[in-house]
Amino acid sequence: EDSVDANSSGKDWTATRRLPHALIIGVKKGGTRALLEFLRLHPDIRALGSEPHFFDRHYARGLSWYSSFCHVFDRCSVLPFCIFIVRIYLTSPSLIVSLLFLLSFRSMMPKALNGQIVMEKTPRYFVTPETPSRIHAMSRDIKLIVVVRDPITRAISDYTQIISKTPDIPSFESLTFKNRSAGQIDSLWSPLYIGLYARHLERWLAYFPLSQIHFVHGERLISDPAGELGRVQDFLGLQRIITDKHFYFNKTKGFPCLKKPEGSSKPHCLGKTKGRTHPKIDQEVIQKLREFYQPHNLKFYQMAGMDFGWQ
Ligand code: A3P
Repeated sequence: EDSVDANSSGKDWTATRRLPHALIIGVKKGGTRALLEFLRLHPDIRALGSEPHFFDRHYARGLSWYSSFCHVFDRCSVLPFCIFIVRIYLTSPSLIVSLLFLLSFRSMMPKALNGQIVMEKTPRYFVTPETPSRIHAMSRDIKLIVVVRDPITRAISDYTQIISKTPDIPSFESLTFKNRSAGQIDSLWSPLYIGLYARHLERWLAYFPLSQIHFVHGERLISDPAGELGRVQDFLGLQRIITDKHFYFNKTKGFPCLKKPEGSSKPHCLGKTKGRTHPKIDQEVIQKLREFYQPHNLKFYQMAGMDFGWQ
C-alpha cells in the first residue's frame, strides 16, 4: 500500500490506494451503470468509472496490477486521449513508450481517504465461475452488490445491445430456441444464460454468506432510485446522503436523472446506450420464456430471501 499525504488544515488525512471494499458484480443490463453513477454522489465512496475486468479477464496480472495499473480511460475521455497519443506518436515514437510506462504506474483504483469505500463494477463477475474464489482470496469480508432485473427484459436489453453492434444477427425469437417447433429453449444462449440468477448465486454462496451480498431491485432502481440507493447506503454502512433530492424524472428520456452529478452543476442523464428502445417480441415467445424462467426465479427468491415479483 502506498500512501499520499493529503494534509489540509492541520489534520492528517492519509489518502491511500487500496483494494476495493465493495464490488458491483452484476448483472449485465441490470442497471449497473446507473447504480454506480448514483453512488458516486456519496462523499464516502470512491468508485472507478470504467470496468477493470480484473477477476475474470486480467487475473494473471496480479493484485498489484489491480491496485496500481492506470486505467487511462477512467479519467481521460477516449477520443481526445487517442488523438493525443497519435500526435505524440507522429512527432516522436519513443516518447510514447515512456508515456505509457508512466501512465501504467498511476493508480487504477481511486485513492481513498480513511473511512472511504473504494469500489468498482464489472457485471461479468457474477456469471464467471472462477470469480467468487478469486475475490474471496483477496478479501473474505468484501461487500458484493448485484443489480437484478426480470431476466426476460434483461435478455431483450442484452439482445438490443448486441444487435446495435452486429445488426445482421437473427431475430431474438429464433435465437431463443434450439428447436422452435419443439419449443426447446437454448438456455446456453448468453442473453438467456445470464438470467439464470439462482444458478450463478449458488456459486457465490459457496464462498460468501448471504449477509455480504446485497440485491438491488433493477425495476425499482428506475421507479424509486432514492429508495434503492437508501438501502445500498445502509448495506455499505454509510450515512444516507443520496436522497430523493438528487433525482428528477426526465420525461423525454423516460428515466430518472441526476439534478447535479459529481463535479458538475448541470442536470445529467445516462447516455444513449442506457435506456434503449427494445424491439417488439412475439408474445408467444415471451410466454414460453415466462414458463422457462419461473422455477429459476422462484428458486432465486428463496435463496435471496426476497420476492422480486417477476412471474
Ligand atoms: P435498457 O437500455 O435496456 O433500457 P447496465 O448499465 O447494467 O448495462 O444496464 C442498462 C440498463 O439500466 C438500461 O437498460 C436501463 O433500463 C437501466 N437503467 C436503470 N436506471 C437507469 C437510468 N436512470 N437511466 C438509464 N437507464 C437506466
